[in-house]
Amino acid sequence: MRVFISPARRLRRALAAACAVASLAASAQWEALRNDGVHDPRGPAIKELQEPGAALSKLTPDNTGNMVRWVQSLEKGEINPRANLNPNTKINIYESDVLLNLKGGMPIVRFPHRQHTLWLDCVNCHDGLFKKEPGANKLSMLSILNGEQCGVCHGAVSFPLTECYRCHSVRRPGQEALRPTLPIAIPPHAMPPK
Ligand code: HEC
Ligand code: HEC
Ligand code: HEC
Repeated sequence: MRVFISPARRLRRALAAACAVASLAASAQWEALRNDGVHDPRGPAIKELQEPGAALSKLTPDNTGNMVRWVQSLEKGEINPRANLNPNTKINIYESDVLLNLKGGMPIVRFPHRQHTLWLDCVNCHDGLFKKEPGANKLSMLSILNGEQCGVCHGAVSFPLTECYRCHSVRRPGQEALRPTLPIAIPPHAMPPK
């Protein structure tokens, strides 16, 4: 027998699962290379390699993900990644902010192009992942939690999805404080600034 689960319930479950994973991850510090399950702890190279903690603890700290506030670190000049391998590749910084989720119950989502094009090229998103036209993308939180749309990167290589208010950052008129509308436990570090 198939049990019908409403989309709202599926979304609540997926959000609750993401929060549970993140509250575990938030207490983690940088794993030593010999314990990371990737490097061979008996190999001769292990003594030569820099530990993640030694490199990352010098950068602007975050309290989640891999514990670095990457955009701030880049803007302060703490890191200076090479922009292109091929000198002919053109660098495009695009400053426009796009407001998404204009009709939902959560605060509005502000998508900042600048902070993305500091690292990424237009073709990383356009037009495969996102069309440019407003409303053309059928954005949904459930798809994002399933690792699609914004979730291709957020929760994988960029800050985790439990940081609700880094995306849902614009209050609606009459919305007093940035509070979730869902009856789920949001970890304290994801709560909105006072
Ligand atoms: C990486 C950015 C990002 C993060 C982090 C994020 N969201 Fe979303 N969220 C979105 C986008 C984009 C949409 C879709 C907007 C639309 O429907 O046009 C959305 C839609 C939603 C919706 C449906 C629309 C509404 O407002 O009712 C809910 C509910 C929601 N998010 C809750 C959350 C909660 C709770 C968290 C934290 C656990 C969270 N989101 C974290 C980007 C994000
Ligand atoms: C990380 C993904 C991402 C990258 C990289 C990106 N965009 Fe976008 N872009 C989006 C999203 C998401 C929207 C909003 C689509 C919607 O409204 O559903 C958008 C919308 C747009 C729009 C229409 C809204 C506006 O601002 O006028 C234009 C034009 C645009 N992008 C141009 C660019 C250009 C040019 C670049 C490279 C310099 C770029 N984008 C890089 C994700 C991206
Ligand atoms: C192709 C990868 C990619 C996609 C897709 C993507 N992002 Fe990001 N995003 C990044 C990276 C990389 C950063 C910078 C590193 C970090 O903050 O973790 C970032 C940073 C941000 C920031 C923080 C900027 C700051 O000032 O700290 C916001 C807000 C954000 N993304 C929202 C979104 C939303 C909303 C979507 C979907 C509409 C989205 N992103 C889709 C890669 C992506």
